[in-house]
Amino acid sequence: MSAGPTLAWDDGAIVTVDQTALPHRHNVLRITTVDELVDAIARLAIRGAPALGIAGALGVALSAYRHGADEPVRRDAARLAAARPTAVNLAWGVDRALSRLAEGADAVLAEATALAAEDERVNRAASSRAADLLRGLCRRPRLRILTHCHTGRLATGGVGTALGAVHHLAGQGQVEMVFATETRPLLQGARLTVWELRDAAIPHRLLVDSAAASALAAGLVDCVVVGADRIAANGDVANKIGTYPLAVAAARHRVPFVVVAPESTIDGATPDGAAISIEQRPSDEVTSVAGVDTTCAGTQAFNPAFDVTPGDLVTAIVTEDRVWYPADPGTGDLADRIDRLATMVEDFPRPGVRFRDLAGVYAQPATFGAAAHALAAAYRDAFSHVVAVEARGFTLGTAVALAAGKPLVLVRKAGKLPGPLRSVKYDLEYGEDVLEMQESAVPPDGRVLIVDDVLATGGTLAAVAKLVTEGGAGVAGFGVLLELAGLGGVRRLHPHRLVALRTDRS
Ligand code: MRU
Repeated sequence: MSAGPTLAWDDGAIVTVDQTALPHRHNVLRITTVDELVDAIARLAIRGAPALGIAGALGVALSAYRHGADEPVRRDAARLAAARPTAVNLAWGVDRALSRLAEGADAVLAEATALAAEDERVNRAASSRAADLLRGLCRRPRLRILTHCHTGRLATGGVGTALGAVHHLAGQGQVEMVFATETRPLLQGARLTVWELRDAAIPHRLLVDSAAASALAAGLVDCVVVGADRIAANGDVANKIGTYPLAVAAARHRVPFVVVAPESTIDGATPDGAAISIEQRPSDEVTSVAGVDTTCAGTQAFNPAFDVTPGDLVTAIVTEDRVWYPADPGTGDLADRIDRLATMVEDFPRPGVRFRDLAGVYAQPATFGAAAHALAAAYRDAFSHVVAVEARGFTLGTAVALAAGKPLVLVRKAGKLPGPLRSVKYDLEYGEDVLEMQESAVPPDGRVLIVDDVLATGGTLAAVAKLVTEGGAGVAGFGVLLELAGLGGVRRLHPHRLVALRTDRS
C-alpha cells in the first residue's frame, strides 16, 4: 500500500489513487479540472467523508488557479459540494477553501493543504481516543471487532477513523479478529478494508452484509465500529447503507456500537436524521456485479448510498475532541465497568473496614463520562439543579451538571461557605456533623438531583434532602456511582427515587 498522502497537490494537479480499481489495479489519477474531480467523486474513485473534505478544498484551488475571478469559482464550488450531498465534509472542505478566495489562488491552496495536514492530526487523535474507549467498553484483552464499509487510510488524510482505531489496537497486540463486511453494492469493505487489513497483517474475515447479525448473535463480536458521513445535532448518524441494521443487531445483542469521526462530520445545523438528505445512486450498481448483469434487464433498484442510525442506538461517537454518548448510557454494561474499576481496599481507613476506592472510575474518562450522562439521562428533565455533596460528591456532581447543562450547587461542611446559609445537623457513627448550603442557591420552585459518590447508611444524603426541602425546593431524586446495599441506606431516602449505577449486595 502506498505510504504517500491520499490526495496530493502536484504542479497544478490533484494526484490520488482510483479507489474503484483497487485492490487489483493501482491506477493513479492526475486530476486537472473540476469536471474530472466531480466525476471522480461521483463515481467513488475518491470517497470517504474526510478524504472528500480534502478533495473539495483542493478542487476549489484547481478552479481558483484556472479562473481567478470570483463568480466561476463559486459556481465550481457549488458543483463540487453537490457531487455527494450526504457527506457533509465535502461541503465543509469546499467552504473552507472558498473562504480564502479573496486572497487569491495561493491562499486557497494553502487553506486546502492546511486542511489536509490537519486531517492527519485529527484522525490520529480521534482514532486513538476510540481505541482507548473500546478497550474500556470491551472486556477482553484482544478484541473481535466488526466494521462496515472502508474508513481507513484512503478514506481520510491519515490513519483512518474507525479503521484507524483498529490500527491502534492492533499496534498494541489487542486485536483478535476484524470482521469486515463486504459492503454492497460497491464492495468498499471487500476491496479496500480487506486490502488494508491484509497489508497491515491484522487478522480478518470477510462476511456478506447479511451475515453480520448472525456473527453478533453467535457472540463472535465484542464491538461494532464504523465511520460517519454526517452526524446530526441530536446524534443521529448517516453512514454507508447497511449501518443502521448493524446498529439494530448490535443493540439486540448488547454489543457496543461506536462511531468514529472528525468534529467536521458533526453538522449542528441539521437537527436530526430526518433532515439529512440521502444520496440515491443509479440502479446499475445493484443490477450488475463487476459489469455482469445479475437480474432481469430493466429492473429498477432502490439504491440509497447511506442510511441513518438513530442516536439512541449509538453507544458513543468519538471525535478528536470528545466522546459523546447520544444514547442513555445508563443501561448495559456500565455497572460492570464501574465494578471492575472500583477497587476494594481492606482495613481502610480503619482496621475492619472495607473501602471501595473509585479512583479507577475517575481515571477512565469514557466510563466516568458515561456515568455522568447516565445519571443526567435517568432524571431527564425532572430536575432544575444538581446538588453535590462535599467532598467526593463534588467530582461526580460537577460532571452530571455539565452533562445535563444544569446549574451546580455545592453543599459543604460548616464554615466553608459565605452566607446567608441554611444548615442541617446530622448523625455520624460517633457524634454529629453540620452541612450548609447558600440560601439563594436553589429557588423555592426548583427541583434538585442530589449527587454523591457512594450511598452507605444514607445519613448524609437524607440530611441534604432535608436542607433542600426546608428551603421550599423539591427533591427529584438521588444519584450515586455505588450503593452499598448491605448498609440499608436506601430506606432513609424514602420517598425519593435513588439511581445507583452499581449496587454492591455483599
Ligand atoms: O459511499 P462511500 O464509500 O463514500 O461511503 C463511505 C462511508 O460511509 C464511510 O463510512 C464514511 O465516509 C467515513 S470514511 C472515514
